[in-house]
Amino acid sequence: MSKFQLLAIETSCDDTSVAVVNSDYEVLANLTSAQEIHNLYGGVVPELASRMHIKYIMQLTEKVFKESNIELGDIDGVAIAINPGLIGSLLVGVSYAKGLAYAINKPLIAVNHMIAHIYANKITHPELKPPFLALVVSGGHSELVLFETEQKFTVIGKTVDDAAGEAFDKTAKLLGLGYPGGPIIDKLAVNGDPAFVEFPRALKQSNNFSFSGLKTSILNYVQKQDEAYIQKHIADIAASVQEAIVDSLLTKTMNYAVKFKINQIVLAGGVSANSRLRKRFTELCDKHKIELVYPPLKYCMDNAAMVGAAAIDKYRREEFASLELNPFSTKGIRLI
Ligand code: KG4
Ligand code: ZN
Repeated sequence: MSKFQLLAIETSCDDTSVAVVNSDYEVLANLTSAQEIHNLYGGVVPELASRMHIKYIMQLTEKVFKESNIELGDIDGVAIAINPGLIGSLLVGVSYAKGLAYAINKPLIAVNHMIAHIYANKITHPELKPPFLALVVSGGHSELVLFETEQKFTVIGKTVDDAAGEAFDKTAKLLGLGYPGGPIIDKLAVNGDPAFVEFPRALKQSNNFSFSGLKTSILNYVQKQDEAYIQKHIADIAASVQEAIVDSLLTKTMNYAVKFKINQIVLAGGVSANSRLRKRFTELCDKHKIELVYPPLKYCMDNAAMVGAAAIDKYRREEFASLELNPFSTKGIRLI
C-alpha cells in the first residue's frame, strides 16, 4: 500500500486535539487545546468539556491543516477515538469526524482510546511489536495488559477503585495543590524525601491495583498534622505519595514480567509522564534485561497523534467504521 495520511481527532475527556499523521508514524501536526476552565473546579465538569470541544474543534482543525501544509483533499481517512470517555465529549468528536469523512468521501477509522495511548509509543518506536506487557495508566484507568499480537491481548490486572492518575489528582486536591495533580506532585517531589511517610501499598499479592485506601490514609495523615507542618514538608509528602503509587505500579508489573519471562514492557497514558515512574522502571528493566519503551512526554497525555497512530494498521487492514458509528463510554481497553 502506498503512503497515506490520516486526520485524527481526540475528544474523549477535557483535551480537544487534532493531528495529521502519515503511514510512517510521522506526526505532521498535532495541536491540543487544554480546557483550563476545569481548573476552577478541581476536576473535569463533563457538560463544560462538551461545550469547549465544540468551541475548539473547528479552529484546531484549520490550524492543523495550516501547520502541516496539507489540505482537506489530501487526507486519506479520518481517525476518531470512540471509547472510553465522557459520552458528551466523545459525541462531539465522533459527530465532527463523521461529518468530515462524509464530506470528503474518505473512510472513518474508530479507535479505542486506551489502545491509542499504547500506540503513542509507535511515534518514536515505529518498529514496536507484540509480544509485550503494557502498563496503561491514565486519569481514568490503570490496566496491565499482555499483548500476544496486535489483535490478541489479555487484561492481567486493573484497578478495583481509583485509577493511578486519579490518585495523583485526588491527593493534589486534598493538599490544595491544584489540577491536574500528577504533574504538580511530580515537580514538587523532586525536592522531597520519598521515605518521609510510609503510605500503604495495597493488594500486594494481586495483579490488580487499588488506590482508594491510599487516599484515605493521606487524608488521615493530613488531618493529624497542623497546616504549618504540612506546608513545611509539602515536597516530602508529595514524594511519599508518589512513591506509594509508583511502587504499586512497578512491583505488580515487574513481578509479572519476571515470573512470565516478558522481554518487553510498554508504558502508556498520562501517568507514564511521571519522572519517578520512568526512572524506577528504567533501573529495574535494565537489571532484568527487559526492554522498556515509553512515549515522549508530549504524547503521554491525551492527544490526537496517538489516535492517528492507532488507526494506521486498521486503515491498512481496511477496518473502516460506518457513518452510523456511535461512541460509548464503557471503561477499559478493547478492540473495536
Ligand atoms: O491519559 P491522560 O491524559 O487522560 C486520561 O485518559 O485520563 O491522563 C491524565 C492523567 C491525570 O490524572 C494526570 O494527573 C496524570 O495523567 N499525569 C501525571 C503526570 N502527568 C499527567 N501523573 C503523574 N505524573 C505526571 N508527570
Ligand atoms: Zn487518556
